[in-house]
Amino acid sequence: MPRPARDLRELVEGYLAELALAPDLGTLEEPMRHALGGKRVRPVLCLATGDAIGAPVENLLPAAAAVELVHSFSLVHDDLPALDDDRLRRGAPSVWAQYGEASAILAGDALLVEAMRLALSYPSGSVARELVDATLAMIGGQQLDLEGGAQLDHLHSLKTGALFRASVMCGLWAADVPVGEHPPWRDFASDVGLLFQIVDDLLDGDGYVALVGEEDARRLAEEAAERCRAHLEALNADAEVLEEIVNGLAVRTT
Ligand code: IPE
Ligand code: IPE
Ligand code: MG
Ligand code: MG
Repeated sequence: MPRPARDLRELVEGYLAELALAPDLGTLEEPMRHALGGKRVRPVLCLATGDAIGAPVENLLPAAAAVELVHSFSLVHDDLPALDDDRLRRGAPSVWAQYGEASAILAGDALLVEAMRLALSYPSGSVARELVDATLAMIGGQQLDLEGGAQLDHLHSLKTGALFRASVMCGLWAADVPVGEHPPWRDFASDVGLLFQIVDDLLDGDGYVALVGEEDARRLAEEAAERCRAHLEALNADAEVLEEIVNGLAVRTT
């Protein structure tokens, strides 16, 4: 019987709270902690993936936390004046607005490297490799976003999709699932990332909403959610919590 998503979220919170962040980095821990205030969608997805195939969830926690640290790093740098120049994140001052630009750059750097340290804690290099590839894809997406003119599907697949795919795939690698079983999980993860992003655009009124209008964006979100459910049905896994996550993402309001 897989653990409910709220239990998985608690496990992630506990693990992150106990994580010895930046022990030698002096006062940098405060902006790093400030950066780690998100909803935990990606690490919960990582744990739920492993749990659905019967892996011990505790073994997946470093991988799940690593994905969340990369995600948090991406937002710290995304908000900087040189990128989106956002003073607000999650209804509070962004890291640079609270601690200054220099500390935000360094806190982002440290979150990224801390993530890699966690990913490298597994005996095999596969979790780290997956996360490195996804991080590079996300950074490439950020650069395309700066340049402008990229197709929205492609941009989202890099900026958001890459870390969603890594959330699921790092769960599989950490659970030593053979490579031959990966493709349908990767398809599921891509559609979860797309679902997440379309709903994000509906909440923000940009992206897909600006491109195709609200009604069509809602339809695209529902189609992505349906594909997620279909992937889950076809997988050899106890997928009820993953389905609960998909359903929650489809109707989320924050
Ligand atoms: C926000 O992601 C950035 C995007 C990729 C759209 P989340 O909404 O998951 O961010 P937090 O961490 O929960 O704030
Ligand atoms: C968030 O992108 C950062 C990444 C996906 C790497 P955006 O700039 O599009 O999203 P928000 O609105 O700041 O969360
Ligand atoms: Mg941006
Ligand atoms: Mg931004």
